[in-house]
Amino acid sequence: MPPDRPTVAEINLDSLSHNLEQVRLRVGSSAEILAVVKANAYGHGAVPVARRLASDGVAMLGVATVEEGIELREAGIEAPVLILGGIFGEDLTAVAAFHFRPVVYTREVLRPLSEAALAAGTEIDVHVKVDTGMGRLGTTLDDLPGLLAAIARTPGVRAEGIMTHFAEADLADPEFARLQMALLDRAVRMLRENGMSPRYVHAANSAAIVTLPESHQTLVRPGIALYGYLPSPVLSFPAPLEPVMSFKTKVVFIKTVPGGTPISYGRTFVTKRTSRIGTIPAGYADGFDRRLSNRGEVLVAGRRAPVVGRVCMDLAMIDLTDIPEARAGNEAVLIGGQTGPDGTAGFIGADEMASWMGTIPYDVLCGIGPRVPRRIVGGMRRAGAPAGYAGAAAE
Ligand SMILES: Cc1ncc(COP(=O)(O)O)c(C=O)c1O
Repeated sequence: MPPDRPTVAEINLDSLSHNLEQVRLRVGSSAEILAVVKANAYGHGAVPVARRLASDGVAMLGVATVEEGIELREAGIEAPVLILGGIFGEDLTAVAAFHFRPVVYTREVLRPLSEAALAAGTEIDVHVKVDTGMGRLGTTLDDLPGLLAAIARTPGVRAEGIMTHFAEADLADPEFARLQMALLDRAVRMLRENGMSPRYVHAANSAAIVTLPESHQTLVRPGIALYGYLPSPVLSFPAPLEPVMSFKTKVVFIKTVPGGTPISYGRTFVTKRTSRIGTIPAGYADGFDRRLSNRGEVLVAGRRAPVVGRVCMDLAMIDLTDIPEARAGNEAVLIGGQTGPDGTAGFIGADEMASWMGTIPYDVLCGIGPRVPRRIVGGMRRAGAPAGYAGAAAE
């Protein structure tokens, strides 16, 4: 058997549990937690991440699509699942069969939902989504009374929750989010006037968990914070969050070339001196984005080596001239921390990589490609872990 390709994403589930605990400390005991695990848990691997979060006691898991929910159920995860992205057509039988909670924002889905519920002999709990300023999915406040009345007279369908989503909660003064909360309060009043008292009122994403305590209500919906990042440098938690993913590979080849040597497609980099050029087996098909060409850096021996030339589909080149101790076979860290043999320590976060790419850490994490194996690390019981914390055996 040839050796495995060394490009992997290590997923530290203890860091995930640590971050969940930080969210808990922020919101206190009045609100429960819906952990957002959509998009393959922001690229981290939906099943192991959801399994750990469920065993850590989150109230609910949030996915974007019915297919993402089915992946969790087929892995034996029984926690309540909210389908954040709405439902369409043939999704409806699966909603009833797998006991998913769909987000609902239009009357059109109520009749087919009701038929699916009655056929399965069950009831479907829906979360009503109100658009308070995001301009995306969600009923307008004007249409809300009609939607609520329709839910009230639809057999097999119950309103378990009412929710909205913030467009801009990551500012030091989240003024617009406060306005959105006022509109959600109005929506909740309308609901009560229709004789409904849903168990869950929810709005807070990671940013609002920090910036807007009044948005915590009875359920919060963190995503990015669980994975160790915050959408803005103005935000902070009681203790630093721990990035859950490390994206690593190895230097597979080093050669010394004279000044004037072009590197990679388009010859966008030409060496200015005798240089040691390393090749790493990570390219844009792995999520080592092409925008990192001549911009990004990676860690080798705890030090930063610049990406030189264009990032290719499967490979990229780095300049190791100033790291003379680097050897073929050395680890190269694309996201995460590394300590070199002389004790030099470096760290590259998904947020720093995002800044080189002109994007956000969400995009970096979700972009780690499907061919990169996710390797679960951690799993030891950490001091202060919540009761019921499962440890490695359960992952
Ligand atoms: C409806 C909804 N709620 C919560 C979240 C989590 O947001 P964040 O990752 O910023 O915490 C998302 C993510 O985009 C979302 O779409």
